[in-house]
Parts: sequence; structure tokens; C-alpha cells
Amino acid sequence: MPHLFDPFRIGRLELANRILVAPMCQYSATDGTPGDWHLIHLGHLALSGAALLIVEATAVSPEGRITSGDLGLYDDANERGLARVIAAVRAHSPIALALQLAHAGRKASSRAPWDGGAQVKPSEPGGWQTVSASAVPHAEGEAPPLALDAAGLAKIRVDFAATARRAARLGFDGVEVHAAHGYLLHQFLSPLANRRDDRYGGSLENRMRFPLEVFDAVRAAFPPERPVWVRVSATDWVDGGWDIEGTLAFTHALKARGCAAIHVSSGGVSPRQRIAAGPGYQVPYAARVKAETGLATVAVGLITEPAQAEAIVANGEADAVSLARAMLYDPRWPWHAAAALGARVQAPPQYWRSQPRAYKDLFENAHFGQR
Ligand SMILES: Cc1cc2nc3c(=O)[nH]c(=O)nc-3n(C[C@H](O)[C@H](O)[C@H](O)COP(=O)(O)O)c2cc1C
Repeated sequence: MPHLFDPFRIGRLELANRILVAPMCQYSATDGTPGDWHLIHLGHLALSGAALLIVEATAVSPEGRITSGDLGLYDDANERGLARVIAAVRAHSPIALALQLAHAGRKASSRAPWDGGAQVKPSEPGGWQTVSASAVPHAEGEAPPLALDAAGLAKIRVDFAATARRAARLGFDGVEVHAAHGYLLHQFLSPLANRRDDRYGGSLENRMRFPLEVFDAVRAAFPPERPVWVRVSATDWVDGGWDIEGTLAFTHALKARGCAAIHVSSGGVSPRQRIAAGPGYQVPYAARVKAETGLATVAVGLITEPAQAEAIVANGEADAVSLARAMLYDPRWPWHAAAALGARVQAPPQYWRSQPRAYKDLFENAHFGQR
């Protein structure tokens, strides 16, 4: 049996294999509430054969959205909308579901990527005033965020906890706290964005303080038997920025607080980043985090080939892989990986007859007859 299709556990959450669907913003919600697009999009990814579907960055408050189309889970209408999507997925797929909890900080109030992705200034229609660790804009010429004061920090902790409670009520199997890609929690970690001189800035310990407080608030708000984990950027790809040493210290601190896994990405905090992108380019960071912290580790980033994914897990570089773009391009990627690697995968009975003649034992429990 290939290792990629070995069962896996994040905390007490049992997963059928080690293929995860990475979180992917759709910028297609209305006032944070998902509609038919999410039903179709998450519905078809739920039939992929992956073990876990991590629902896109979901804002804990309206001002925490990257764009005005971001998914949110801060009011009852958002919760009702997600309940409809989840009910449809659960009715037709055994896939585990997690929600990524997010606050965009100074990268909030943006246009959707297909509208250019630029900042919408607070003075422009549809824009709003952003907040961050410090009043330092993401890019030169952008309207600066407001530096959060004690009341602002407290509100964000409460918002994360409230969204975690809604996620629990919706039946999510786990939550991922988004501390990567230059969004609010990463803005606290990175010395490029965090210029505070209070107990939330300066030393590594101080810069980790707010993200760890948010983790604690989420962990306390989500049922103890269900896992909470964190997505990090392992490096800013900028000299003097957040780096792998900080990531290791942060992961150790998270592990001590009951974090169930770490999802290792990179970049996003500075337009000065110089990313050496290539196949599996973030895997060495995941491998170091796994080797040095022993926490369950998920690798992501340009993992596109079944043999490549299999090697990452078989070599012990990560416990699981997550795929984003490859999964959009080919939503049956896990089926094709199972076929290529000689494994079996769950598929819905409605599709069992599609099993190719060359892979007679591909779909678990598949059987059909006709008169
Ligand atoms: C359309 C799209 C939306 C994304 N949205 C999110 C998101 O909501 N949260 C997040 O942490 N990463 C997000 N990402 C990053 C992916 O999760 C992933 O880390 C990245 O695309 C690299 O993996 P890949 O090479 O398999 O695509 C997004 C990527 C894409 C392509």
C-alpha cells in the first residue's frame, strides 16, 4: 500500500488518507454568506476522494475580510448559509471538514484577484479602515492600518472564539487558525510588520504572544475532542523577516498548548519577498518542522504529481500533503493518484461505473448490477 493512502490522524480526527484539500478563497460570498457557488465548489471538491477539505479563509469579523466577497462566520446569516452547504456535503460525502479561521489585518479591504487585487482605500466606495500590529502599510503608498490597542486586541480574541463556537455548532471536524500569508496573525509574528514596543512586539516571545493568545481562545472555544491546528508561513523570503527559526519556536509553543498539527506554507507579508518557487519548494520547511518538533505536519505548495506526494509522505518529510491549484485543475486528483499508485479510494456510488477497466479495484466497495 502506498503511504499516501495510509490512514492518518490529526488529534482524534481520523482521516482515510493523507491528501488534504488546501483552503482556497473564492471571493464569492455576500456579506460573508456563501451561496450556490460554494455549494457547487465545495460539493465537487467533497467528491474528490481527499480525506479532509479545509474550507477557505473565513473571516471572524467583517473588517477581517480580505475582500468584500470573502466568506465570514460572524453572524447568524453566515451560519445559516454555511449550514446549507455543509448539509449538502455531508449528505453525499464522507470527507472530513475543517474551517480556516482568518483575519486579514492590513491586507483587508482589497479587490478580488480578478479585479486586480489592489487595496481599496478607506475613503473609496466599499473600502474600510484596516487594523494591524503596527501602523505600517503592506506596500508603499497604501493607506496605513491602525495599530491595535488593548481593546482592539481583546475584541479580535473574542471574535476568533465566537467564530470557533459557530464552527463547532455547524459540525466542523476541526479548525485551522490562519497565521500565514501576511494576514493579521502573521503580521504580529513578522518583524517586518510588527514594530510595537509593548509586550506584543520586539522579542520573538513578544511577537508570538498575540497569535498564541488567539490560538488559546480558539482552542478553549472549540470542543476538546475536535482538533485545532495552525497554518504558518515558515519564512517571509525577506532578509530580517520571519524565518524558520521563529517558526520552530512558534510550533513548539503551539504544541505545548494543544495544537494538533501544523500546516507549513510561506510568504505573503511583504512585496519585497523573493520566492524560490519550484516543485515542492516549501517541503524542506515542513520537513524541518516535523523533525524538530514532532508535531503532525502538513506540506503544501506545488505538489502536483502522485509520485511526488507519495515520496514526501514515504520519506517522512511530512505526515500529509495539501493541494490547492492542482485540486481545482483536477478535482479527481486523489482518484488518479490512487490509480497511479495502486491504492483504493472512496467514490460516490453514482460514479462507480466510471472505474476504468485497467483499475478494476480502484473504488472501495464498488459494485453494481443491472437487469
Ligand atoms: C484560488 C486560491 C485561493 C487561496 N486561498 C487561500 C486561503 O483561503 N487560505 C490559505 O491559507 N491559502 C490560500 N491559498 C493558498 C493555497 O492554500 C496553497 O497554499 C497555495 O496555492 C500553494 O499550494 P498549491 O501549489 O497546491 O496551489 C489559495 C490559493 C489559491 C490558488
